[in-house]
Amino acid sequence: MNDRLPAIQEELEAHGQSHVLAFFDELDPKRQAALLDQVDAINFDELQALIETYVLNKPTIELPDSLEPAPFYCRPDDPQHANQYDVAEYRRIGEQLLGEGKVAAFTVAGGQGTRLGWNGPKGTYPATPVTGKPLFQVFAEQIRAAQNKYGVTIPWYIMTSPINDADTRRFITDNNCFGLPRKNIFMFPQGVMPTLSADDGKLLLASKHEIAVHPDGHGGAIKALRTSGAIEDMAGRGVEHISYFQIDNPLAKVVDPLFLGLHTAAPDTSSEVSSKMVTKAYPEEKVGVFCKVNGKVAVVEYSDLPQKLAEQRDESGVLRFNAGSIAIHLFGVSFVEQLTADADHFGLPFHRAEKKAAYVDTASGEVVNPANPNAIKLETFVFDALPLAQQSIVFETTRDEFAPIKNASGVDSPASSHEVQSERNARWLESHGVKVPRTRNGKVDATIEISPLTAMEQADLPVAELPETVAAGSVLSL
Ligand code: UTP
Repeated sequence: MNDRLPAIQEELEAHGQSHVLAFFDELDPKRQAALLDQVDAINFDELQALIETYVLNKPTIELPDSLEPAPFYCRPDDPQHANQYDVAEYRRIGEQLLGEGKVAAFTVAGGQGTRLGWNGPKGTYPATPVTGKPLFQVFAEQIRAAQNKYGVTIPWYIMTSPINDADTRRFITDNNCFGLPRKNIFMFPQGVMPTLSADDGKLLLASKHEIAVHPDGHGGAIKALRTSGAIEDMAGRGVEHISYFQIDNPLAKVVDPLFLGLHTAAPDTSSEVSSKMVTKAYPEEKVGVFCKVNGKVAVVEYSDLPQKLAEQRDESGVLRFNAGSIAIHLFGVSFVEQLTADADHFGLPFHRAEKKAAYVDTASGEVVNPANPNAIKLETFVFDALPLAQQSIVFETTRDEFAPIKNASGVDSPASSHEVQSERNARWLESHGVKVPRTRNGKVDATIEISPLTAMEQADLPVAELPETVAAGSVLSL
């Protein structure tokens, strides 16, 4: 018998989780040991408290009466910016930081992408409208372009999860790192949480020898940066700021000098964490909103913002809570170091999500694929780090930086992302006098892709090489 078994049996029994070993006797010794390792790694007292709070009860979010919209630095093409900040000066500061090698790119790619339903890490998904470049390639090319532009190495940190880490590494190395030196790419897996039965908080089994787990949310990035050694690696390279973006938004800029300048030098920044926003498209849009909560900048999830507030407008008819989060941030390396100084005890608050999760029925031994949500996944969100900063600023950008791929169809799908990508590219061409066909309702009547290696921004386009016109219904890749 395995020496560890009695103590583990006792622990599981004490917490009502004995079913985890339902198939133990059928397993070979290797699998038995792996299952015991998995059980050993769980702190059952902590888990019990989480089950009480998030599974057996639904925590209610208490928003203070004094909830205010967060102030923000408006976009540089808004004439109001002149009252707020000097675009050229902050851009210069950001470019200097880039040129000095003080900035790293950081992609969170540990999610499961269940809504998209793609068989593989989301970063391998063909995302661009003409050539179908995978998301990892889009960002690798942006990094190469930025390196050329600023004459510097921009190391790339990629957070995976234990579930997609091996596939991600294989994809990136099999593709020759899309032209980046392997030594400048640092991949690391985030932590996981056990997936719990929504009925009673019991641990679900993914197979007879495995407890079902899921990645612990993008908020797990803060701790994983530390425990993986990524933060140490950054410090060793002289990196001071982390440019954070999600794998599923092909229009996210890997680095942005103006944003960097404001993050480090605006009068009200502490350079700990800064965020980008876009104005909301409509009151019910499913994006978190930047607010001031008890004097601190925070993101309130769309589902937590009371409808009355979501619909409130100011005298000029603009939504009062209008600053939608697009999950692009800058983090100071020293802020992450300070938050995780005691990494074992650091964690952002959990959020409860009701999801479908396949599991092994302990009575029959059969795998059940539920038709409806049956499980609670506990996840942390990276924006919960904002109120931990002394001060945190928000910077407005345009929708040209937001084309997320979340769902297989409809809103935030590959089709909608292609449309936004083509639109952005059309506007870039039009700004240089290229005639782009548009339908009667103003939509671009062509599919247009611009490689980051051709242009990272509108001004980079090689004007002499641009066509005079784009034919209606055509496909163009530059
Ligand atoms: P989403 O919240 O859209 O989740 O992640 P998801 O897992 O990709 O997709 P669904 O909900 O299962 O359909 C937003 C970003 O955060 C990353 C994702 O990879 C994506 O870039 N993420 C999310 C992580 O890195 N880890 C997580 O645990 C969750």
